[in-house]
Amino acid sequence: TRIEKAGYKHFMAKEIAEQPIVLADAIKHYCRGRQINVPDELDFSTLDRLTLVACGTANYACLTAKYWFESLAGLPCEVDIASEFRYREPPMPENSYAIFVSQSGETADTLAALRYAKEKVAKIVSIVNVPTSSIARESDVALPILAGVEVGVASTKAFTCQLSVLLLLALKAGHDRGRIDDKTLADHLKTFATLPGLMNQTLSREASIAVMAAAVAEAQDVLFLGRGAMFPLALEGALKLKEISYIHAEGYASGELKHGPIALIDKNVPVVVLAPRDALFDKTVSNMQEVMARHGKVILITDPKGAEEAGLGTWKTLTLPEIPAIFAPILYALPAQLLAYHAAVAKGTDVDQPRNLAKSVTVE
Ligand code: G6P
Repeated sequence: TRIEKAGYKHFMAKEIAEQPIVLADAIKHYCRGRQINVPDELDFSTLDRLTLVACGTANYACLTAKYWFESLAGLPCEVDIASEFRYREPPMPENSYAIFVSQSGETADTLAALRYAKEKVAKIVSIVNVPTSSIARESDVALPILAGVEVGVASTKAFTCQLSVLLLLALKAGHDRGRIDDKTLADHLKTFATLPGLMNQTLSREASIAVMAAAVAEAQDVLFLGRGAMFPLALEGALKLKEISYIHAEGYASGELKHGPIALIDKNVPVVVLAPRDALFDKTVSNMQEVMARHGKVILITDPKGAEEAGLGTWKTLTLPEIPAIFAPILYALPAQLLAYHAAVAKGTDVDQPRNLAKSVTVE
């Protein structure tokens, strides 16, 4: 079947808008009442370690998952870029799983990394959008993300579906390892079911995000900051912006601000702060104050409590619905995508086919 833009100006816009629908499909597939529906052979209860390997946006999904597997399941996690992993000869404990995340399932470096891990670990698991792909076929267990065909070179709906499958696995791992009881698991799955609705509410803020994006489009450099599981999303937000708008952008852990990037701040540098009101919010507020004291333009993406506590002085604030902390990276991905999309549209770049980039990188 031919994939059409269905009235949208770009495939990327359509794929951003589809996220509540495809996520609902994935939830229907993976959540059965109070249980997570994955093959029985996946058992995290006595594993010593997980290794997660991918490229590009999928690698940022893996980095986010490290926060989840470690905090929810107490399972040590290693995350690596496939092109580094495959040549580094990393030792891998036998009693571990290796997880490969890939939208296409054909990325050459990720496939080579999978082949390296094959005889070393207990199980090769992949999280893919194309179930017939090479990476899926060579895995012991291939979990589909059910995002549907993604055409835009910049990955959007595949990213949030990858995150969702990884979070479900982390919850299962926490349950297998006795850290999450039946009731808590059921509560998390209930919250999961509300995510598509919260995504719709977030997408309804598109017009205000486009206004912010028009201002971002005039910048030469943009910084993205996040703490904890929002740090990998800062990396992803910066990647999206540079890929399609060609604006130089960097993602940093908020706490690293004073170890370098603060030297770049002046009145021309927008700083996008991805910060729900969580346990570390106070620290993020003091980072923002450091930026504002140097006349940097803070774009704060937060929830109602965060907007209130941050006080005055931000250049722009976008308020998203409140959501339990572990789910925030999935929801906050949407404004990051929309910001990049509208900055690119404002600059008039080729959004779906950015220069020099390919959707699937099947050569080294
Ligand atoms: C290319 C695409 C990215 C993608 C990366 C990994 O660089 O432009 O959007 O994240 O490859 O692709 P994969 O298919 O393995 O997820």
